[in-house]
Amino acid sequence: MEKTCLFLILLLSGGLSTLPPHSREYHFVNQKMTWTEAQSYCREHFTDLVTIYNSNINQLLFSMSPRINDFAWIGLYDDRYSWKWSMEGKLFYVGSTHKLLTWANGQPDCVNAKEYCVALQGQTQMNDRPCGDSYPFLCYNAKNTSYILVMENQTWSAAQSYCRTYHTDLISIKSKEEKSNITLTLNGSGVQYVWIGLYRDPWSFWSDNTTSTYTNWMSSQPNNGNSVEYCGDLNLKTGELNDANCAVRLYFFCFTAVTKQTVVKMKLQSEADMHSTEIQQQVSQQLSGLMLSEGLTDFRIRWRKVQSYRDDQLKNQDVDGGCKTEV
Ligand SMILES: *[C@@H]1O[C@H](CO)[C@@H](O)[C@H](O)[C@H]1NC(C)=O
Ligand SMILES: *[C@@H]1O[C@H](CO)[C@@H](O)[C@H](O)[C@H]1NC(C)=O
Ligand SMILES: *[C@@H]1O[C@H](CO)[C@@H](O)[C@H](O)[C@H]1NC(C)=O
Ligand SMILES: *[C@@H]1O[C@H](CO)[C@@H](O)[C@H](O)[C@H]1NC(C)=O
Ligand SMILES: *[C@@H]1O[C@H](CO)[C@@H](O)[C@H](O)[C@H]1NC(C)=O
Repeated sequence: MEKTCLFLILLLSGGLSTLPPHSREYHFVNQKMTWTEAQSYCREHFTDLVTIYNSNINQLLFSMSPRINDFAWIGLYDDRYSWKWSMEGKLFYVGSTHKLLTWANGQPDCVNAKEYCVALQGQTQMNDRPCGDSYPFLCYNAKNTSYILVMENQTWSAAQSYCRTYHTDLISIKSKEEKSNITLTLNGSGVQYVWIGLYRDPWSFWSDNTTSTYTNWMSSQPNNGNSVEYCGDLNLKTGELNDANCAVRLYFFCFTAVTKQTVVKMKLQSEADMHSTEIQQQVSQQLSGLMLSEGLTDFRIRWRKVQSYRDDQLKNQDVDGGCKTEV
């Protein structure tokens, strides 16, 4: 009778986004680069710039760093061109040039890291403004497809509440028709700034596309000094976060996504034909059930045949990986 020594390979792996932070390895890179250069370096040599999910990871990075009076890039950045419409909440990219929407000269500039809502300026151009400023605002009413200019000074949030209560929402501008109707609505009103439905969440992006809302800012940071600070770094002296000019050269932290590969050696004593894919599937299924019940959700199981030999060959023969069979 033929017995087969089989290896079950449990591949504990998955997409980057599903990898829990604990399966990452962290690296401090003792070279100075711009944020973009550092990102490329990390992607080439490791996986990406680091994402800080919680205080444990913050502490871990801090513990790896030389306690010097300097900073190191992390994966955090503030994208001043990624906005959302109040009506939808989906990301809406409005680059420095856009087919429909025009930024006023030098905008968006996120002065003092405080401007996360958009007003029309001079009735046609966009400007990012502090959401707490009070301006008149434009509502859209979906029932009678009309645009309503409300001539009351309100903060962006209060304007949004008003529009949602009495109409549908703050307006969005997504077509030429909408734009021309809005221009028409504003014509003759004399308003300087008027709120529209555009807003954004500050500091919500990490280089590896995962999300983390962890913040451990140094006091009075982020401040977007000189309106050029859109990348996040870690203060090597205090372990706190800061915003800096992405073009500055700093040390940086990368991570490697660790694919855990656990080899489970099993001695299978069975009269059943272990070459049969059906039997292999049954064993795999039982094993999957066991792993899931243990809370392991991110794995693959693969069979690997190491060696097959007959009874009448050497008994207790050691094969690759130390798998033995006995009769
Ligand atoms: C549409 O309905 C709103 C809310 O009832 C009203 O304020 C507005 O005047 C209406 N507009 C038109 C053009 O009917
Ligand atoms: C809104 O505020 C501006 C600036 O303070 C002021 O000039 C304007 O009269 C106010 N408009 C209304 C409708 O209160
Ligand atoms: C806006 O204006 C266009 C004409 O430019 C018109 O066809 C359209 O019905 C108007 N209303 C809306 C909700 O776009
Ligand atoms: C604004 O209204 C005036 C009349 O009040 C009109 O002459 C002008 O063409 C209008 N402008 C636009 C852009 O519709
Ligand atoms: C992150 O997402 C963007 C846009 O969806 C994509 O172009 C980029 O390749 C992604 N980066 C990583 C590291 O997955």
